[in-house]
Amino acid sequence: MKFFIDTANLAHIREANALGILDGVTTNPSLMAKEGIKGEAAIAAHYKTICDIVDGDISAEVLSTTFEEMVEEGKKLVAIHPNIVVKVPMIKDGIKAIKWFTDNGIKTNCTLIFSAGQAILAAKAGATYVSPFIGRIDDSGWDGVQLIEQIARVFAIQGFKTEILAASIRNANHIIACAEAGAHVCTCPLDSILGLLKHPLTDIGLAKFIEDAAKMGA
Ligand code: G3P
Repeated sequence: MKFFIDTANLAHIREANALGILDGVTTNPSLMAKEGIKGEAAIAAHYKTICDIVDGDISAEVLSTTFEEMVEEGKKLVAIHPNIVVKVPMIKDGIKAIKWFTDNGIKTNCTLIFSAGQAILAAKAGATYVSPFIGRIDDSGWDGVQLIEQIARVFAIQGFKTEILAASIRNANHIIACAEAGAHVCTCPLDSILGLLKHPLTDIGLAKFIEDAAKMGA
């Protein structure tokens, strides 16, 4: 399973990348706005900086919602760096745009996926990734991981090449459950990635090893 970081924060991206396990980055308009990025030039410069830090797929989301505008925006985004993946919302024009990008050799990430039917449509259009938002599904009283399992079953039966990119991850348990459910990628906030490191018995065990190492003259 690939690990992406879900943020536009450069410090978090650098910290996760330094672990050596990062395969890519996902952003969205809310995450970009949170970093105070404003205007076309600043947006492009920020994506370029992210691409220079991480060698992997970098999802950059279109801000428009019509087919023509999304295609124009996507063309500009991929001109920033060859690793840019155009992130497109799951709407009718979004599906048309994904098909256009696919036919023109441009990678896409279909975002705001909340059902298997939406994932099937995006896969039919040739999306590189579909992004089911599992945390937001859990927040609404459904089961986000069950949706990952369902999409993984459908894609395996149908032989779709589209990768399942589990998004809206809220904690380390989500990552483990998505790995078990068949997600190809988890995109996670830094805290959730670092949460995988933690176990009290590791800390207790290491403290004892350090104590005993001192007895050996280390
Ligand atoms: O990148 C989109 C997704 O991961 C959003 O997560 O926490 O806003 O539901 P969240």
